[in-house]
Amino acid sequence: MRKPKVLAVIAAAALTLTLAACGGSGSSGTPGATSGKTLRLALNQTEAHPSYIALDNFGKRLATDTNDRWKVQVFPNETLGAQQEALQMVSNGSVDMAIVSGTQLENLNKDFRVLNMPMAFSSIDGQMKVIRDKSIVGDLFTSLEGNQHVTVLGGFTQGERSVYTKFGPVKTPADLNGKKLRVQESDLMIAMAQAMGASATPLAYGEVYTGLNSGVIDAAENNEVSYFTQKHFEVAPYFSNTKHLVGLDYLIINTDTLKKMSTEDRASFDKEWDAAMTEHTNLWQKSTEKAIADAKAGGAKFSDVDAAAFKSALEPLQAKFLTTDSQKALWDKLQAAQK
Ligand code: GCU
Repeated sequence: MRKPKVLAVIAAAALTLTLAACGGSGSSGTPGATSGKTLRLALNQTEAHPSYIALDNFGKRLATDTNDRWKVQVFPNETLGAQQEALQMVSNGSVDMAIVSGTQLENLNKDFRVLNMPMAFSSIDGQMKVIRDKSIVGDLFTSLEGNQHVTVLGGFTQGERSVYTKFGPVKTPADLNGKKLRVQESDLMIAMAQAMGASATPLAYGEVYTGLNSGVIDAAENNEVSYFTQKHFEVAPYFSNTKHLVGLDYLIINTDTLKKMSTEDRASFDKEWDAAMTEHTNLWQKSTEKAIADAKAGGAKFSDVDAAAFKSALEPLQAKFLTTDSQKALWDKLQAAQK
């Protein structure tokens, strides 16, 4: 009685191995498909940030949908490296996925500048509509595949970014004169800080708290959620609502890894990633309100600015940075889609 049972176990194991070699049990046998993987994802936010929450839930749903063939392991707090390194690692395949700010991609393809421009987006809803519209962003999102092996899958809003300082509230660009303002590492962001009257200091996100605390920088600019979750309010308590930019983060993946998904698993991946974008957008407003309340409770002071003065200081950036036909065409599509 025992022998046949052992044989059945061996036969079942052999069948599992064969299925795995063909692309995984339950997969559609797509040529070149692998049976799955735990995708390592680099993130520079804390576990309390909406991006971590939405990505973690995305991974759980993906595992369920694919019978655990594909999973996502999110590494928060820059544990795999800051965004510049994360982008490099996704490109060479040592990390599978990352969330990177649009400013990082601008350094690889200047057309990304269009979406990083102050005044590109008038609302978060408009922004999410644009990045889901393949007729607008389709070419942009595949533009890094050939040289960099990086595919852009979509994104999360960064909400409205504003300036915060160690030294006091800001009302007009003149209040930033001679002050060192931390910006993300891109030419456009450097020019943006200068247009706002400041002296620009590009730094990685994870260095901002120490930079403010030690006085290497006098000010930074970000959304309220980052201001609170990174504890920047402790060292720069004056948050001035410049709202100079609706920023955008992208989910990027190594192109070769993406291509190894079976058609069926790729469909699950796309469906769950789309749901993650929706979840993130839904979480954003509440997280922003909570961050403002919590930062205020921690001593932060919020104030309004002369919005017209900032608008006219920033407007000339468009003529300076949107110079090619493809940038101008993309800008026009962006504006038309938001009408
Ligand atoms: C936001 C954004 C990050 C970015 C950071 C920064 O928090 O979501 O992707 O890295 O700003 O200012 O560097």
